[in-house]
Amino acid sequence: TIIILDFGGQYTQLIARRVRECHVYSEVVPWNMPLADILARKPIGIILSGGPSSVHDADAPRIDPALYEAGIPVLGICYGMQLTALLLGGAVEKAKEREYGRVTVRMKEQTGLLGGMQPASNCWMSHTWQVSACPPGFRVIAETDNCPIAAMVNEDKKICCVQFHPEVTHTEEGTMLIRNFLFRFCGCSGDWTMSAYAETAIRQIRETVGENGTVLLALSGGVDSSVVAALIYKAIGKRLTCVFVDHGLLRKGESDQVCHVFSHLFPVRFIRSDAADRFFADLKGVTEPEEKRHIIGRDFIEVFKKEATALGKLDYFAQGTIYPDVIESGQGTNAAVIKSHHNVGGLPKELGFTELIEPLRMLFKDEVRALGETLGLPKELVWRQPFPGPGLAIRIIGEVTPEKAEIVRESDAIFREEIAAAGLDRHVNQYFTVLTGIQSVGVMGDERTYDYTIALRAVTTDDFMTADWARLPYDLIARVSARIVNEVPHASRVVLDVTTKPPASIEWE
Ligand code: XMP
Repeated sequence: TIIILDFGGQYTQLIARRVRECHVYSEVVPWNMPLADILARKPIGIILSGGPSSVHDADAPRIDPALYEAGIPVLGICYGMQLTALLLGGAVEKAKEREYGRVTVRMKEQTGLLGGMQPASNCWMSHTWQVSACPPGFRVIAETDNCPIAAMVNEDKKICCVQFHPEVTHTEEGTMLIRNFLFRFCGCSGDWTMSAYAETAIRQIRETVGENGTVLLALSGGVDSSVVAALIYKAIGKRLTCVFVDHGLLRKGESDQVCHVFSHLFPVRFIRSDAADRFFADLKGVTEPEEKRHIIGRDFIEVFKKEATALGKLDYFAQGTIYPDVIESGQGTNAAVIKSHHNVGGLPKELGFTELIEPLRMLFKDEVRALGETLGLPKELVWRQPFPGPGLAIRIIGEVTPEKAEIVRESDAIFREEIAAAGLDRHVNQYFTVLTGIQSVGVMGDERTYDYTIALRAVTTDDFMTADWARLPYDLIARVSARIVNEVPHASRVVLDVTTKPPASIEWE
């Protein structure tokens, strides 16, 4: 394991991902984890992340300097470098000029940490402070015009430090540097794979659940809960019960696919609750987006509870919690609530479960997909784009009715089909249609029509926090538009959403 100490940097998760991309397992822990606990995890290398503080602040995060004496290789990045310098007897000063963005770094050597890298390499910088004097035993191995000590190393103690960020993709040879640290300094073997992960996870589930234990899972049909179901099925077979609440607001073909996969490929004990009527009844007359979310969240829990109660007592509750949620909750984000994303977070407690099974807790989204493929889930399911919990309800502006759900569902299916046919389904990160509340005048045959306007929304994004509208080919848009107005009753106009996030959100509600 490579342990990453998180000093609150915005790229910390990326460090973990880059390390794992080298087939080396890594975990992020808070900077203030006691040294004994860190060592108990038997790390073969430690990475200190960047962070927003200045090492000279009175309340700046500090670590126990004994960490550097534990005989474990250390890589300090940005704040991690400055902290290392300070703790080991070097100096840190405010840079004359703050460096931010792409900077050319001159690498003084092409061996060791910098093995295989170009003498001048584009790197991503983001700092106000920098190391002004190396601690004893360190050598400077890279510089920029404004930063004379852009990287330093102490080979004897296997301590490496870089002021730039090797983990971001703007640092063109960053992965090479991380590989060098992992393979040349830490002696990693690079044999961490998804099938190895699956084997371990399946064994752990068997151990936890025991010979006769039973597990309950709320299956949404999304990637995460489906991968959890497949994994637990492989561990304990039909002692896994999946409850699938169909709220009638899923995309075309989705609920049938879920039923097919989990009754044929992974034949768990499968309970399908067809609750569309109830959801539509409760959504009648409701137009406010947050109220829609609230009603759907509440109904979902009630329907699920009813089904779960009917099943009698099961031993464990399984959840598809993934690593970014774990890291974020560990840090307690204070982000403002823009939209209340509904999930099943509070359910296990309400149902009286104290024991949780969360086999994806340590995985990033793309790793979950890779695991899904390894387990043999269908590709369409594994590569499914994100779909919001409240489903099509937040893609129908205004009141939700079964008729409107049908219009948005059919138009969405056409859009998805055409995007896939154009080979763009893995390049555009999220794409869907919206039934705008606008009706407009048209003509069909010789008749006047007064029907709905469908908006096409397609975005590219890395993290769904910011997004750009996808530059779809015009002929693709033309085909989608023609098909929607021809094939979907009551859709008479198609418009394209060309707004970035921010200021717009990805969904319309
Ligand atoms: P926004 O619209 O906030 O969307 O830019 C960002 C991502 O979150 C998804 N989303 C939701 N997911 N429940 C969910 O589970 C929700 O209420 C919800 N609202 C938005 C959205 O699809 C996008 O991927």
